[in-house]
Amino acid sequence: MSKNVPHGGKLVQLFDPEYNTTAIHAEIELDQTALSDLELIGTGAYSPLTGFLTKKDYDSVVSNIRLANGTVWSLPITLPVTEDKAASLAEGDTALLVHNRIPYGVITIEEIYRPDQQHEAQEVYKTTDTAHPGVKKILDRGSVYIGGPVKLIRRIERNQFSDFYFDPIETRSIFKEKGWKRIVGFQTRNPVHRAHEYIQKTALEIVDGLLLNPLVGETKSDDIPADVRMESYQVLLKDYYPADRVKLAVFPAAMRYAGPREAIFHAIVRKNYGCTHFIVGRDHAGVGSYYGTYDAQKIFGQFTEDEIGITLLFFEHSFYCEKCESMASAKTCPHDSEHHVILSGTKVREMLRAGDVPPSTFSRKEVIEVLIRGLRAKETIQ
Ligand code: ADX
Repeated sequence: MSKNVPHGGKLVQLFDPEYNTTAIHAEIELDQTALSDLELIGTGAYSPLTGFLTKKDYDSVVSNIRLANGTVWSLPITLPVTEDKAASLAEGDTALLVHNRIPYGVITIEEIYRPDQQHEAQEVYKTTDTAHPGVKKILDRGSVYIGGPVKLIRRIERNQFSDFYFDPIETRSIFKEKGWKRIVGFQTRNPVHRAHEYIQKTALEIVDGLLLNPLVGETKSDDIPADVRMESYQVLLKDYYPADRVKLAVFPAAMRYAGPREAIFHAIVRKNYGCTHFIVGRDHAGVGSYYGTYDAQKIFGQFTEDEIGITLLFFEHSFYCEKCESMASAKTCPHDSEHHVILSGTKVREMLRAGDVPPSTFSRKEVIEVLIRGLRAKETIQ
């Protein structure tokens, strides 16, 4: 498959604001995750998905990391409901997909099924530990899944950073206008610290443009809130990146913390947005110590390049080395770890909340200033 082709061959487009819903009476309430999934299915970000997974695809994704037709797909995109809700629905019905009483979509219910959620957790998250935020979420959402094709009938209103929402069709045309042929996608749920900047810029040396694509959907409560991060990205880009080489756009999906499985998902979705390359560094989409440092890179070894269709750029754990006086990794630095500036995410969050400034070798001061101010403002409001 040639590069830049959407996953599965074509960009799915399911937005139909004129869709006639007058005869539809059944309703399914969407949580935040399902709402963002619905929109991302509708805009083609999840191509080739055209709806929430039916059992055959779900089983295949969970056990084989592929849809039933063999196309690589790593995360079960499901629509869970409670037993009570399921009892009011029937296969063959059409239902409105609503959130806070507003209909955003329509589903033709092809199948109502009861998944083995322990098996799903074990296969997708490699654990059934409910302390894992992704596992907890599976179990907290409903125990019955509704599968079937959807239409998106209304877009979600954007009160925050509305200038940074672009559908795959738009990012594709932006890249074209800019004349970028080789575009590297960067997923993040964190501020851009020096290590992130280092791997982004190293990648940028060999491609035409960078899509800085922070995830702004649901994240766990101790992650830095998206609005604070968005401000930090903008101050960093303004002073330290060439404006004509970077596009900042949000990725409105929920974070799953599924490590290797989510890395595949993140790569494929960025291909749909028009990226030709995708960065996977250390412990991509990881949480706690559930995954090995490079598991999210190793998992791609199970597939051919054509099956994934986007070039992966794998990076070693990078850090500032005081002896090298530069950013480096074990591949480029011969010095002992005592010379390396490495701070865990938890440690940094603690420092920020206490108003302590991490060293500039870890994060640029402009970024830190925004983070401290942003987190303080939130704490004052709460
Ligand atoms: S993630 O959950 O979105 O993956 P994060 O925002 O921390 O978390 O990471 C974004 C990307 O940068 C991921 O590909 C991750 O593997 C990579 N990364 C983060 N920190 C480092 C580091 N110190 N060295 C190498 N890669 C890193």
